[in-house]
Amino acid sequence: MTANGLFISFEGIDGSGKSTQVTLLAAHLRGLGRDVVVTREPGGSPGAEEIRALVLQGDPDRWSAETEILLFTAARRDHLERLIRPALAAGSIVICDRFADSTRMYQGLSRGDLRGTVDTLHDLMIGVEPDLTVLIDMDPDDGLARAKGRQGHEERFEDFGSTLQAQMRAGFLALAQEFSDRFVVINGAQDISDVANDITRAVESRIQG
Ligand code: ADP
Ligand code: TYD
Repeated sequence: MTANGLFISFEGIDGSGKSTQVTLLAAHLRGLGRDVVVTREPGGSPGAEEIRALVLQGDPDRWSAETEILLFTAARRDHLERLIRPALAAGSIVICDRFADSTRMYQGLSRGDLRGTVDTLHDLMIGVEPDLTVLIDMDPDDGLARAKGRQGHEERFEDFGSTLQAQMRAGFLALAQEFSDRFVVINGAQDISDVANDITRAVESRIQG
């Protein structure tokens, strides 16, 4: 999708280390002289950040499964129009903490099999995939313990517990096989610096290759 820039997404269960590694990769690439835009989903643009509050705060049953898919997709569309596309057109490397694969997993799997609905809406309204998706894979109980340590207000999905997290882990690994051309799977159970080194190697081979 990218004329000049490079679009990298990070995926994985809550607490797998995505935010930590996004920051480290951005610093590394900036050190190489690249222009880097760091962003996240849901959110990343003012309108999408407003939708973030709607989907991540409040009663877990606040939205039907279908309404939730629409809200995440609406947020993504705004993010794409206002931030991601312009940054890529300007030649930046865009690093996004979660993208459409999260919707395929969380909305597509967790409340029944809605993957078909997610994909249809994605094709209609988004229509792009990252150039590279870094999946940080790790044990769900370890991830949950890390995520719980943060104590925020955005708990709707984290509260699903370790059974759902295990389902998400398996789902993400299956997605990595389905989209093997753009996914790289990283062992997230290592030290922060070892995870970062693995990610740097994967990204640099993609930039050069
Ligand atoms: P995510 O964005 O995937 O939810 P974070 O990057 O916020 O994950 O990490 C969750 C917590 O785990 C943070 O407190 C972070 O400092 C810690 N953490 C991240 N990576 C590691 C690691 N490799 N080993 C131990 N702790 C980690
Ligand atoms: P995030 O802030 O990345 O949480 P964490 O740092 O704990 O991984 O994402 C917040 C939550 O939003 C996370 O539990 C997953 C969920 N989510 C969806 O359900 N669908 C989506 O499309 C996205 C992007 C996130």
